[in-house]
Amino acid sequence: MQRSRLAQISASLFAIGLLFWGAHGAALSWIYVRIEPPAPTPLPPITGLPNSSASTCAGCHPDHYEEWQGSKMGQAMTDPIFLLDFNAQGRPFVCLRCHAPLDAQQPERITGLKSLIPLEGAGLPNPDHNADLQREGVTCVACHQVEGKLVAGIEHPKGAPHPAKYDAEFRKSGTCARCHQLAPPPLSGLDRPLPDTVAEHRRWQAKTGRAEECVDCHMTPVQRPAALGGPIRANHTHDFPGAWSDDLVRTSVTIEDIRTAPNGVHVTLQNHTGHALPAAEPSRALVIRLSRDNQTIAETALRRSIPIPRLRDEGDNRLRPNERRTILIPFGDGPTPTHVSVDFERLYSPAVPIPNSVVPADRRTVRIAHRPLP
Ligand code: HEC
Ligand code: HEC
Ligand code: HEC
Ligand code: HEC
Ligand code: HEC
Repeated sequence: MQRSRLAQISASLFAIGLLFWGAHGAALSWIYVRIEPPAPTPLPPITGLPNSSASTCAGCHPDHYEEWQGSKMGQAMTDPIFLLDFNAQGRPFVCLRCHAPLDAQQPERITGLKSLIPLEGAGLPNPDHNADLQREGVTCVACHQVEGKLVAGIEHPKGAPHPAKYDAEFRKSGTCARCHQLAPPPLSGLDRPLPDTVAEHRRWQAKTGRAEECVDCHMTPVQRPAALGGPIRANHTHDFPGAWSDDLVRTSVTIEDIRTAPNGVHVTLQNHTGHALPAAEPSRALVIRLSRDNQTIAETALRRSIPIPRLRDEGDNRLRPNERRTILIPFGDGPTPTHVSVDFERLYSPAVPIPNSVVPADRRTVRIAHRPLP
């Protein structure tokens, strides 16, 4: 309610401003061309393959296909959490630029803006639109197709029915940057995605001197054939664990030190991810809780808060790349806590309410640590 009122007020103020300026169309085009990532260009079909669908790749790359189907990227357009948010925002075209990034996945070819708040694109129906392909979300060719070839890290591919190419750079963060990095769009009503993960990762590499790429933490090396009937080689799992993997999340942070003071507890945390913790998604939080008899007495949440619908940070106290930080959690004059815990909350401040039927209560929180106080 409050959200839409705010949106209306800002929309009216902005519209009045534009009328005075007398250049509505020009202003919208100025904004449109600065929206990142830019509109997708059509990909030519791959020589030797009937179409670009992941189900075609599945015939020869069944392991990659199965893992990817279970991943958040394989579900980027079917995940109910995404759909609730996408529909609540009126299905803005910008979401598709990362969640379904191919030209054939766009129902319309957007070439400009109809309105800024709410964000609406102007364009014509896309004659090449393929609804089945759209449901594939971040599909195989979105990452792998470069200049008509399917590119990855196999130096001498054997027997591929499609052009295949080795590129040593493919495993680096550049492959991820198109969607895991976004410049703040000027004046737009685009509220949700503000990933800065690739830049954070570069700072992490510079600070620590470590060379791990995104794939080294988010894809596991495994020996197996890369294609049916092919030789056994070094492969990379395609389930891309992230915030929804309990195992990965438990490796993200450690408690390095706990010190009690008269009215609070000092907890020292070390970020072990290759970026900020939590990473981009603003609905996550790392919560430090003090408790007694399993009742929370005090808590502090580390998160980035981006209120909707304005694109404005209201504070960002997440752990920076490689940061070790001592945080004071005050508990005032109440009962003295006996334990400290660190929890990763997946839906701490979701953009839209997510019912328990979509994400049950026990999938919302991962307990990373639970310690008695010294
Ligand atoms: C710049 C690329 C980009 C755009 C544009 C984008 N997203 Fe995303 N989205 C991501 C990435 C990357 C993630 C994974 C989470 C992360 O990076 O922390 C994500 C995750 C999400 C999630 C969290 C799903 C979960 O697992 O909890 C929701 C919801 C979501 N996006 C909704 C939207 C909506 C709605 C739009 C359009 C307003 C949108 N996104 C536009 C890249 C994008
Ligand atoms: C008819 C079988 C077949 C189909 C269909 C097929 N591939 Fe392949 N692909 C292969 C074979 C065989 C190789 C070589 C494997 C080897 O050398 O171990 C290969 C290699 C690759 C490589 C590695 C390239 C390199 O040099 O690193 C990628 C990436 C790839 N395929 C992606 C895809 C994608 C994406 C699709 C669907 C759009 C697809 N393939 C469809 C059989 C197929
Ligand atoms: C988010 C990007 C992304 C998506 C989507 C993706 N891949 Fe990959 N894939 C990679 C990366 C990165 C590597 C290489 C890692 C390396 O070389 O270290 C890779 C490697 C491969 C390889 C070479 C063998 C190996 O495991 O290293 C094949 C074959 C392959 N992918 C097929 C597929 C198929 C089929 C799909 C869809 C079902 C798919 N990929 C979806 C990023 C992606
Ligand atoms: C074409 C856009 C695109 C590219 C390229 C891309 N991603 Fe993603 N990625 C997304 C979107 C969108 C999501 C969120 C999907 C959702 O949750 O609805 C996502 C989700 C993820 C997640 C899971 C996040 C979570 O919340 O658990 C991981 C891990 C991930 N990506 C890693 C990578 C890596 C590593 C690369 C590069 C090798 C890469 N991605 C390339 C768009 C992309
Ligand atoms: C040293 C290991 C490491 C490296 C390198 C790394 N990550 Fe992560 N990443 C993690 C861990 C651990 C988590 C789980 C904690 C979390 O979700 O915030 C994570 C979480 C994520 C998520 C889920 C965020 C969310 O809340 O939905 C995304 C997306 C992601 N990483 C993308 C990337 C990308 C893109 C790169 C490279 C630019 C990268 N990661 C490099 C370890 C790493």
